Amino acid sequence: MRTDVVRLGRLSGERTGEMMHFLSSMRADRCIADADVLVDIAHVVMLDKQKIIDRDITKQLLPALLELQDEGVPEEVFDDRFEDIHAGIEALLIEAVGAEAGGRMHMGRSRNDEVATCIRIKLRDDVLKQMAALLKVREVLVALAAQHIESVMPGFTHMQHAQPTTLAHYLLAYEQAFSRDFDRLKEAYIRINQSPLGAAAFASTGYPINRELTARFLGFDGLVTNTMDAVATRDFALETLADLSILMANVSRICEDLIIWSTWFVKFVTLDDAFCSTSSIMPQKKNPDIAEIMRAKTGSVFGAYTGALLTVKGLPMSYNRDLQELTPNIWRGMRDAKESLRMLVDMLSSATFDTARMREESGKNFSTATELADTLVRSYGLAFRTAHNIVGRAVQKGYLNLETLDTAAQELGVEISFAEKGLTQDKINAVLDVDSSLALRKAPGGPAPLATKIAIEERKKQLDTDSVLIDERLAKLSKARDDLIAEARRLVV
Ligand code: ARG
Repeated sequence: MRTDVVRLGRLSGERTGEMMHFLSSMRADRCIADADVLVDIAHVVMLDKQKIIDRDITKQLLPALLELQDEGVPEEVFDDRFEDIHAGIEALLIEAVGAEAGGRMHMGRSRNDEVATCIRIKLRDDVLKQMAALLKVREVLVALAAQHIESVMPGFTHMQHAQPTTLAHYLLAYEQAFSRDFDRLKEAYIRINQSPLGAAAFASTGYPINRELTARFLGFDGLVTNTMDAVATRDFALETLADLSILMANVSRICEDLIIWSTWFVKFVTLDDAFCSTSSIMPQKKNPDIAEIMRAKTGSVFGAYTGALLTVKGLPMSYNRDLQELTPNIWRGMRDAKESLRMLVDMLSSATFDTARMREESGKNFSTATELADTLVRSYGLAFRTAHNIVGRAVQKGYLNLETLDTAAQELGVEISFAEKGLTQDKINAVLDVDSSLALRKAPGGPAPLATKIAIEERKKQLDTDSVLIDERLAKLSKARDDLIAEARRLVV
């Protein structure tokens, strides 16, 4: 097979293997090889329908392309000497059906619009997979939350015991974050799924092409209308990588929690052995390595994002070969995020939470002191700040009781005696009780079991809605693909 079909007219001179390897996008093009075949089919069917090529040419091109579609792109095409998959497949076609027919496939297009189209096709599939993976993580979080509505645990700010909450409340907090990650990808998809095809090099073409037709064949929802923008932009990929970076920041945070929770200090969780490694020297060790790798993959995804971002900075209009270097960042970021989400699902669902340990910690460090301050406000009409100061001063003394509260008030110059006003130690103890403090926090989204039950029902409905959206998008894509293949087969009989 000739490897110089694109080059041979204009350029001469041998290039070294090292040079070819340096220039080629072939390794990353494995990700878009199937998409490229589909794009070729759509383009040829369009050329035929617009009478830009004769039916006898179509009848030579399409069977060869349909065979690639059925069998996959053969290994020999993935050769650096072609520079990229687009030239490789064109060379294969020329080899298979001859230059007269094979040499007509690239009419009215360029690798510039071709590659942008392929990236968008592959990326939208990946985004839908990522959304499905996120959905699984969210389902696990909601299912676990439903089991732990009453599992009291300390909530932290600044990593200090702050106020009691529940494990369900904590899990739902992450579910909500992942739900926003889902929404961001859902919206990115809308901008990804626009067709640049027909832009050719950047100035479109003089042939009477039909951009809407190829867009429809390929399952796109519309066009990237301006043909210069169509080949020049990778903003859709940057946006997706930014979304993945934010998503991974959330993954990293939950991993960090689980790493801390599985320490001997905290012991809130036992991760399944499968998610842990041991030490080669310390026989007793059980280390949360998978969570650590996820935390590190987060950095890699940020790297993919910044790598892509820095590639486009300073690029003049329109297509520049630099853009080729951006593409592997997309696939790397996608892969790391997808693998991480898969690990997270199983790591969470196989984890054992020690709810007794959590309860043991939940009242520590005066974690219900806010409730006591609020009670002083409610019962004795104090300003919140005054009550806050009194309780804070009592905490400084090491105990929350009648005596320390009264002394604190005196020291702060507040004319009040809680003892005389009828406050008793029993009342104080009741206010400081973890469960009763929790039960009061029933504002929407709060940790009270009542509020949590409502939240769980609401989240379940949202999960159903989100799952339907993924199915609809997948169905639309596979219908477009089936229609295109059927149309191509009709043309060759
Ligand atoms: N392999 C190239 C890329 O990934 C395809 C476009 C090449 N275009 C060109 N004018 N050399 O961007």
